[in-house]
Amino acid sequence: MAERASQIAGHLNYPKGLLAGQVAIITGSGQGIGAEAARLFANEGARVVISDIDAAKAKAVAESINKSGGSAIAVSGDMLNAEYLKTLVKKAAEFGNGKINIIVNNAGYTWDGVIHKMTDKQWDNIIALHNTAPFKLVREAAPYFRVTDGEPRSIINISSTSGVHGNAGQANYSLAKSGINGLTKAIAKEWGPKFGVRANSIAFGHILTRLTAAKEDGAFVTTPDGEKIALGIPKGQGAQSKDANLDIPLRRAGTATEAASSILMLASPLSSYITGQVIMVTGGRNM
Ligand SMILES: NC(=O)c1ccc[n+]([C@@H]2O[C@H](COP(=O)([O-])OP(=O)(O)OC[C@H]3O[C@@H](n4cnc5c(N)ncnc54)[C@H](O)[C@@H]3O)[C@@H](O)[C@H]2O)c1
Repeated sequence: MAERASQIAGHLNYPKGLLAGQVAIITGSGQGIGAEAARLFANEGARVVISDIDAAKAKAVAESINKSGGSAIAVSGDMLNAEYLKTLVKKAAEFGNGKINIIVNNAGYTWDGVIHKMTDKQWDNIIALHNTAPFKLVREAAPYFRVTDGEPRSIINISSTSGVHGNAGQANYSLAKSGINGLTKAIAKEWGPKFGVRANSIAFGHILTRLTAAKEDGAFVTTPDGEKIALGIPKGQGAQSKDANLDIPLRRAGTATEAASSILMLASPLSSYITGQVIMVTGGRNM
C-alpha cells in the first residue's frame, strides 16, 4: 500500500510541468479555446505551435506566451489548404528538433442551416474543415507519431455535443463532429498497440467564445473563395436564449479556460491510460 502511494506521489511530481519538453500543434489557437489551451500547455512546459487562419491573432498569442517565459511559434494558414498542412507539420518538426508529441485538432466554426435549405457548399465546407483537414494533418504528421522513442504521443480532437446527440439546424456540423469521434477511435486502435499513441475526443457543450456569442456582434469568417460566414447565435435563440443554461446541472456555460483545461488534462500524463474516448465537457448537460 505504502509502495503504491509513493508510486502515485512520484508520478504526480512534475517539477518542470506536466508537458515538459513536449512539442504541441494546436489548430485554431489564435483565440477562444485553442488560445487558452496554448497558454495552459506552455505553462506546463510544452513548446507550442500556434496555428490559425488569422495571422495577426496567431502571432499575438505566440508573442504573449514567449513574453511570459514560455516557448511558442506562430504558423498561420488555412486548414482547408492541403499545402498549409504540410508546412505546419514541417515547421512544427523543425521547432521541435525533429519531434512532435501532441496535435490538438481544434480549428473550426459552424455554418448552420435547416436540412431542406442547406447548400452543398455549406455541407462540404464543414465536413472539409472538421473532418478532412484533421485527417490530413494527422496523416502528414504520421512519421512523428509512428515512433518508438519512449516519449508520449497524443492526439486530441475537438468534438461537440452536436456530434454525440445531434442538433437541429446543424446537420453538417453534427455529422462532422460525430465523424471526428470515429477518426479518434481509429487512430487509437491503429497507433496505440505498437507506438503507444493515445487519441481522444472532447465534446464540448456551451462554452463562451466567439462561436456562441451573439450573432449581432458581427463576427465572421471567410471561406477560401471569399464568402463571408456570419458567426454566433441569434439573440434569443439556443445558447443566446434566457433559458439557455436551465438544462445544465451547473446552470452556466463553461469558460474557454475551463474547456482548455480539459484538453490539458487529456494531453497530460495523468491521462496516460485514457485513449479512444469521447469526454463530455458540458457542465453535466445531457448526462
Ligand atoms: N464554443 C463552444 O460552445 C463549442 C462547443 C462545441 C465545440 N466547439 C468547438 O471548439 C473548437 C474551438 O472553437 P471556439 O469556440 O474556441 O471558437 P473560436 O471562433 O473562438 O476559435 C476558433 C479558431 O479557429 C480558427 N479557424 C477557423 N477556421 C479556420 C481555418 N479554416 N483554418 C485555420 N484556423 C481556423 C479561427 O480563426 C479561430 O481562431 C471548434 O472546433 C468548435 O467547433 C466549441
